[in-house]
Amino acid sequence: MPSVPIDWDALDALKYEDEDATVSRLLADPPLDAAQSEAATQEAVALIRGVRAQTRRGGVVESFLQEFSLGTAEGIALMCLAEALLRVPDAATRDRLIAEKIGSADWAAHMGQSDSLFVNASTWGLMLTGQIVDVDPGAQDDAPSYFRRLVARVGEPVIRQAVAAAVRMMGEQFVLGKTIDDALARAKREETLCSFDMLGEGARTAQDAAHYEAIYAAAINAVGMASSGSGPELGHGVSVKLSALHPRFEAVQEARAFAELYPRLKRLTLIAAGHDLNFTIDAEEADRTVLTLKLLDRLARDPDLKDWTGLGIVIQAYQKRAVVVVETVAALARDCNRRIMVRLVKGAYWDSEIKRAQIAGRPDYPVFTTKAATDVNYLAAARVLIDAAPALYPQFATHNAQTLAAVRAMAAARGVIIEHQRLHGMGEALYAVAQERLGAMRLRAYAPVGGHEELLPYLVRRLLENGANTSFVNQLLDADVAPEDVAPDPLARLAAAPARHPRIATPARLYGDIRANPLGRDYSIQTEREVAAAYAHAGRQWLGGPIIGGEPVAHAMRSCPAPHDPARVIGQSCDATPADVEKAVALARAAFPKWDEAGGPARAKVLQAMGAALERETDGLIALLSAEAGKTLNDAVSEVREAIDFCRYYAALAETQFGTGELLTGPTGETNLLVNRARGVFACISPWNFPLAIFTGQIAAALAAGNAVLAKPAEQTSLIAAEAVRLFHGAGLDPALLALLPGDGVVVGAAVTTPVHKHSP
Ligand code: FAD
Ligand code: 2OP
Repeated sequence: MPSVPIDWDALDALKYEDEDATVSRLLADPPLDAAQSEAATQEAVALIRGVRAQTRRGGVVESFLQEFSLGTAEGIALMCLAEALLRVPDAATRDRLIAEKIGSADWAAHMGQSDSLFVNASTWGLMLTGQIVDVDPGAQDDAPSYFRRLVARVGEPVIRQAVAAAVRMMGEQFVLGKTIDDALARAKREETLCSFDMLGEGARTAQDAAHYEAIYAAAINAVGMASSGSGPELGHGVSVKLSALHPRFEAVQEARAFAELYPRLKRLTLIAAGHDLNFTIDAEEADRTVLTLKLLDRLARDPDLKDWTGLGIVIQAYQKRAVVVVETVAALARDCNRRIMVRLVKGAYWDSEIKRAQIAGRPDYPVFTTKAATDVNYLAAARVLIDAAPALYPQFATHNAQTLAAVRAMAAARGVIIEHQRLHGMGEALYAVAQERLGAMRLRAYAPVGGHEELLPYLVRRLLENGANTSFVNQLLDADVAPEDVAPDPLARLAAAPARHPRIATPARLYGDIRANPLGRDYSIQTEREVAAAYAHAGRQWLGGPIIGGEPVAHAMRSCPAPHDPARVIGQSCDATPADVEKAVALARAAFPKWDEAGGPARAKVLQAMGAALERETDGLIALLSAEAGKTLNDAVSEVREAIDFCRYYAALAETQFGTGELLTGPTGETNLLVNRARGVFACISPWNFPLAIFTGQIAAALAAGNAVLAKPAEQTSLIAAEAVRLFHGAGLDPALLALLPGDGVVVGAAVTTPVHKHSP
């Protein structure tokens, strides 16, 4: 049967699908009808009551993180400590970090607040009281000085060890064992079916990646021996993060991912297939989703893995395109006549997806902005997943009682066998009660294995998950929250409030009405990579050399090579002479008074036009920045965006600070008017490392204030500077106000700076 290729561009195109449109679609064709959703919610309430009635089984982690939630200063302090402490190499810095974090919070307020012994022990540990020193009641009002007194009494090493131990204790709650043998033994003792995750992700070097492969290979063999042919559904399995297996597991490196990562992945899957295990590829950041699926596609079609039914993948329902991803994997499974195991999760990187999209100026977020939309999308993806059985084997990973009850009811209605999954250290009580109420389940725990060095990213995700007040587990044991409020009906909630989150503006609106956040590029998307490649390979030759009064000046031209490929000539340039400088100064001096008189709002218009021109020319500028300054694509994008932002920022300052002036008080009846005026002609000398952003920013600042500018770029990057100056002139700036004077610092730099007093008005 001819294989049906997957339409990768279609998946890319859905990454930033409009959230309102996606939600409308979900509501138009809800995965459950109102009665089914209501029934699942009722069941969830019963489950929550059941868990609360057995709080002893509620799990220490839940209690701990509920007490120290991210809504409290202490929770945030702990999060920072956990994230940083164990990887700070020297004692002095550790002490300073502890002093800052412990000193900034009120630990005493948490003492005795939780029924869990562990929580109280940790509170004591964190307060470093109890056995170490007596509690000083006055201390609570003045934590920093309390901390200083404490240090004076017990010494910093004691405190350092105690805090490190407390943080370590917290981490250990999420890890099944330090080694795979320990973890297997514990899983056997506790009769838990596991998917073992060898901690480690985001390899930085080839050595890291080889190390993680070796660890995985050994672990898969050990798990395979222990599972002794139970098969992918009933035996233990493994979960793997591809970012551990290659230091450049990113879409721009797709060719390397296939050449270097794929063989590594295949070696591991061959071992797993040999033991007939479930081998699941974890889902990481949304930028990696399509590349992950492409690798899955290759594996699924690999004849060497033909008869194995344990290949698995994770799909994140917080991504707007999740339903289509499930359909894509189902089509793949049918196309290659292979069962694929699919773990559906909501997604563990929500905070970083939001932040990353804002920082990078993405067109929108790849994830929903409301929890209710994610919850309903999970159920929509669940419906497709259940309907795709047996081509797909549905595995539902959640700690949310409503989600659990809903998928269980959906699967039962269709007579499909499903598997439930929870993370080690979480959800024990929920699933215990669920099995009592709903009958025996196939249940698997995701079981991290490893030491502290590798734990941190995983731990931070768990702290975020447990600490966020939108999180089910955060409220599960909080007696102040009614069970109905812990698990509200997501469909009803979404229908009542379908709009995107009012406080999470789109990346473009990050600064509100102050100024627009410049649009970036997303090279995880194939078509955007193709645009970048077309610009890079267009072979355009750029013109440098002085620009005076808007006219290019051509002395003896020299070829400009690309720094990373000296044989490649990217343009021609020449240096300004002292006579050029004199001419530019004279023009600038003559032109600036009118520019100063024009006032801030008029100048802001020109700067805004320059921002728009840079935004329009972004792709060409990225190519030029890469060619002349050797910038990587993403660095070049950031640089162009920074240049645009400078223009917009200084345009706003020109408007507010160079208007009609500010009336000051006149104590004796006089009128005091403060008006900002220009100073004259400015020399702007910029460095090569930010040849567009700093160059543009300096010029924009001087121009905004009504000055004229002589711009002297770094010798290495005169072509970029020439392009920026042309864009300024094209944006409506009087060319006499901005001259480009490239050249050697000793000659041109000296000429534009030394006679400054002589030229000053
Ligand atoms: P809930 O409290 O119902 O949901 C919390 C989730 O809702 C958040 O994690 C987030 O995804 C989403 N959310 C929160 N606020 C918002 C908002 N404002 N807008 C939109 N969405 C929001 N995660 C991965 O990313 N990759 C994996 O490979 C992976 N493997 C897992 C394996 C197992 C066995 C388990 C149990 C979890 C795994 N996870 C993985 C983690 C999983 O993503 C989180 O545990 C899960 O998101 C929590 O969802 P919940 O239904 O338990 O809780
Ligand atoms: C994570 O590492 C469990 O894969 C999920 O956060």
